[in-house]
Amino acid sequence: MTAALMNTYQPLALSFTKGLGTRLWDQAGREYLDAVAGVAVTNVGHSHPRIVAAISEQAGLLLHTSNLYSIDWQQQLAKRLTALSGMQRAFFNNSGAEANETALKLARLYGWRKGIEQPLVVVMANAFHGRTLGTLSASDGPAVRLGFNELPGDFIKVPFGDLAALEQLQRQHGERIVAILVEPIQGESGVQLAPAGYLKALRGLCDRHAWLLMLDEIQTGIGRTGKLFGHEHAGIAPDIMTLGKGIGGGVPLAALLATEHASCFDHGDQGGTFNGNPLMCAAGLVVLDQIGKPDFLKSVTDTGLLLERELQRLSARHGLGEIRGRGLLLALDALLCVRQVGGLLRVPPGQGVALGVVEQALEVVIDAQHAADHALGAAAHRRRRRFRRRPAQPGGQRRPADRRAGNLGRGDERRGAIRDHARHPDSGRELCRHLQCRRSLDHPAPDHRHG
Ligand SMILES: Cc1ncc(COP(=O)(O)O)c(C=O)c1O
Repeated sequence: MTAALMNTYQPLALSFTKGLGTRLWDQAGREYLDAVAGVAVTNVGHSHPRIVAAISEQAGLLLHTSNLYSIDWQQQLAKRLTALSGMQRAFFNNSGAEANETALKLARLYGWRKGIEQPLVVVMANAFHGRTLGTLSASDGPAVRLGFNELPGDFIKVPFGDLAALEQLQRQHGERIVAILVEPIQGESGVQLAPAGYLKALRGLCDRHAWLLMLDEIQTGIGRTGKLFGHEHAGIAPDIMTLGKGIGGGVPLAALLATEHASCFDHGDQGGTFNGNPLMCAAGLVVLDQIGKPDFLKSVTDTGLLLERELQRLSARHGLGEIRGRGLLLALDALLCVRQVGGLLRVPPGQGVALGVVEQALEVVIDAQHAADHALGAAAHRRRRRFRRRPAQPGGQRRPADRRAGNLGRGDERRGAIRDHARHPDSGRELCRHLQCRRSLDHPAPDHRHG
C-alpha cells in the first residue's frame, strides 16, 4: 500500500486486473471465484458484455453534460424504475449514502411543509445507511461513528423488529415524527431479518400516523434477495426507497424513488453535478434489462436455497452458528479463533459474511474450519479422520458435503482465493481478514482505526 493513500482501508495484498461473470484474475493471472461481488455490487457479474458495450458506446457518444440540460438516458431510467416499483418519481445520486441523504432531506422537507419545525426520523438499532454525517447519524455502532460527534440529531433509534418500542415512541414524540427509515434486511450488521409481519406492521403504523415509510434497499434491492426489491417479500410498498450498489452494475449510480405524495422537492431543493449522468444511466438501463430476463430472479432464489441448505449442513457438522438471510444475501454466524504468530485473531459471532457465489461461500467455511483445525491440533485432526471414514454412497461416491469436509485442501476444482490463502503460512490471518473483508472495506472496526 502506498503511503500516498489515506489509511482508511485495509486491503488484502491482492489486486485484480480482470473480471468476468463470477471470476476475477489477479496480477499473476490466477483465477478467483468472487463471493464478495464488489461488496454486493456486481449483481449481474463482472464486465457483463452488454454493460461493457453500453458504456463503451456511451463513452464514445457523450459522458457528461450536467443537469442543466435534459438527459434522455436519465429519463428512460426514471421511467423504467418507477414502472417497476409502482412509485411515481425518481432522483439519481452517485452513492448509497447520498441517496439516503436525499431521503432524509425529503423527509425533513415533508415534515416542514406539514408545519413540523423539528422533524424526527425513526431509525433502527444496528442499522447502516452510509458514511456522510447525516447517514452516519442515522446509522448505529461505534465502529462507524466513533470520533465524529456531534452528529445531526434528528433521529430516534428503536430496536429493529420491536413494534412495542415504536408504539411507545409514537406516544412520546408522535407529533414530531415524520418518517421511519429501515432496511428490509439489515445487511452490514450481519444479515438480520425482522420478525415476520414487521414490515407490514410498520406500513400500517406509517399509514395511521401519516409518517413516510422509507426503505433503504441499497443492499437488498436489484435482485439480491430473489425479488427485484427486498420489500416485495413482505407484500408492502414504501413511500420512499433508496437503491445503490447493484443498480449501476459497477459504475457509481444510486437512486431514490418516491410516491407522488412524498415527492415534495421543488426546484433547487436537491442536486448534484454528476447525478444521473449519461454514462451511469446507460449502465443502469442494461442492469435492469438483465435482471428482468426470464429466470434471473428465479436463479437467485434457487441458488440461495442451495447455498442455505449446504450452509445448514456444514454448520451442523462443524458446530458453527445460525444461517440467516434471503436469496443471495446470506450470513453464517461463526466464532473462529486461529492461532498465529503474535496472537489470536477472532471473527466474532454476529458479523455476517454476505455471500455472492455458492461454491466460494462454502470454501470460505470449510477453509476457515481447516485453519481452525490446524490451530486446535489433534482433536480436530481426529474429527477430520472421522469424516473420511464415513461410508461412501452407493456407486462408490462420497456424499458431496463429506467429500468437501474430508478432502480439505485437495482436488476440488472450485477452490479459489480462500483456499490459496489457507495454504499460506499466514493462513489464519489471511482467512480472518477475508472473512472480515466486508467489514474492513465498509466499516473499519475501531481497533483497525487505532492501528
Ligand atoms: C443498507 C446500506 N445503505 C447504505 C449503504 C451505503 O452505500 P454507499 O457505500 O454506496 O454509500 C450501504 C453500504 O454498504 C448499505 O449496505
